[in-house]
Amino acid sequence: MSQTQEDFKRIISFAKEYGFIYPSSEIYDGLSAVYDYGPLGVELKNNLKQYWWQSMVRLNDNIVGIDSAIFMHPMIWKASGHVDAFNDPMLDNKDSKKRFRADVLIENHIEKVEDKITKEVDKAAKRFGETFDAAMYKETNPRVMEYQNEVTTLSKRLATAMSEGNMAELGKIIEDLQIADPDSGSRNWTEVRQFNLMFSTQLGNIAGQEEKLYLRPETAQGIFVNFLNVQKTTRQKIPFGIAQIGKAFRNEIVARQFIFRMREFEQMEMQFFIAPGTELDWFEKWKAQRMKWHLALGTPANKLKFKDHDNLAHYANAATDIQFEFPFGFKELEGIHSRTDFDLKSHQELSGKKLTYFDQEKNEAYVPYVVETSIGADRMFLAMLSNNLKEESVPDSKGEDSTRLVFKIHPALAPVKCAVLPLVKNKEELTSKAKTIYDKLKLQFQCQYDDKDAIGRRYRRQDAIGTPICITVDFETLDDNCVTVRDRDTLVQQRVPIEQLSAIIAEKTDMSKVLDQLV
Ligand code: GAP
Repeated sequence: MSQTQEDFKRIISFAKEYGFIYPSSEIYDGLSAVYDYGPLGVELKNNLKQYWWQSMVRLNDNIVGIDSAIFMHPMIWKASGHVDAFNDPMLDNKDSKKRFRADVLIENHIEKVEDKITKEVDKAAKRFGETFDAAMYKETNPRVMEYQNEVTTLSKRLATAMSEGNMAELGKIIEDLQIADPDSGSRNWTEVRQFNLMFSTQLGNIAGQEEKLYLRPETAQGIFVNFLNVQKTTRQKIPFGIAQIGKAFRNEIVARQFIFRMREFEQMEMQFFIAPGTELDWFEKWKAQRMKWHLALGTPANKLKFKDHDNLAHYANAATDIQFEFPFGFKELEGIHSRTDFDLKSHQELSGKKLTYFDQEKNEAYVPYVVETSIGADRMFLAMLSNNLKEESVPDSKGEDSTRLVFKIHPALAPVKCAVLPLVKNKEELTSKAKTIYDKLKLQFQCQYDDKDAIGRRYRRQDAIGTPICITVDFETLDDNCVTVRDRDTLVQQRVPIEQLSAIIAEKTDMSKVLDQLV
């Protein structure tokens, strides 16, 4: 198993062991690509959602929130294009009986060629030392140029086949590249077919009279169909945005990467309504703003990058992904799309209801254009686990090297903000003092009380779940009303008066300091 696969496995077992994420329906052997959040997982996910919500709705006077229903009129999905075009190209391997996405198989092949380029360049860098010019090398080395040429040609071929919906061409690319089933090595493929990703169910209980309903594959449409309701009731003027967090459902073909690609997941989406012609400016502004949002959490800049879409969705005139370096490589974390007036216009046509906005400055009515930012809460959760779970060497109580597992999540997002730990558990005076402190702090913070095991083990447990501050109550506390405060990251221990605890924890875990970096 490669190092990256091992890292990923470690994250998945950590998530289960510490109560962040469990496989859904586990006692019945699980349900593929569906997961449940445990006690710590739900806290962390709620904090992530809070950070997103506050950055959108609280910081921006011209963005308001809604919470629309998951069930919507079936015509909505006709108008949005999802009934006809929300498809993935899939094929089956006849030997392994496994199903794959044709575009993903081709993209993986392209990534392998890109990896070869990186390896060649790294090798040359070692050979030539400090004087090495990577850009020049890429432009002149015949082997690298050949690989680069292959990447460009294949990417273009893939983008054309995808935008034309040409399934036969996708099949031909797979055949030309001799792509095999990654697990079994077999090249015995079926032809490539379109596969609609929406789940459906029925409304009504009279046999034969049920109406087909879809589980929403994105939350965005709930925003579009409420555009005028919101605009009229809030009297917002363009430009303004509507934000929403909610569940979405997709019958994903390839769903094998833990919470990266799920069949039931949560989206945090914001549709920003603007005047036609201004969309590319707003697209750039939102790109910059969203990147800031990620960086403010302390995620290193080299783990995030933009990747423009070669193959635009049916509704977009510009689109980019913010990719994050997951253990399995750089992959989409968030999408930013300039959706034009496609959705509002389609709803206007199919519903027969006007969805125009009267712009007083311009003295004209128009259907607004839209720039959308859309991020999966679960994918963001996985990014946070991948980036912040570390094994570190630290001195133990005897000053010797020992390894600790520490979840260095930003304190504002930490599932537990502080832990109150009486030094020993069988001394009533100590435990009752510690409980009094805990009872006070829990009014303000997500807090844990723990009196099991030796103090060192309790520190390790709190490090592993990312608790920024541990508070130890010892015998001196009974005399001086002071406690020891231990910092998760620096390991510095400080003696502080009990009455200062609330201010110390608030200062350390304050979300407003992160939000302040966005304004
Ligand atoms: N409204 C636009 C839209 O839905 P998308 O790129 O299909 O665009 C947006 O999805 C985000 O939703 C993605 O960047 C990803 O974070 C998340 N997402 C999409 N499909 C997902 C899945 N199957 N499991 C988990 N997250 C998913």
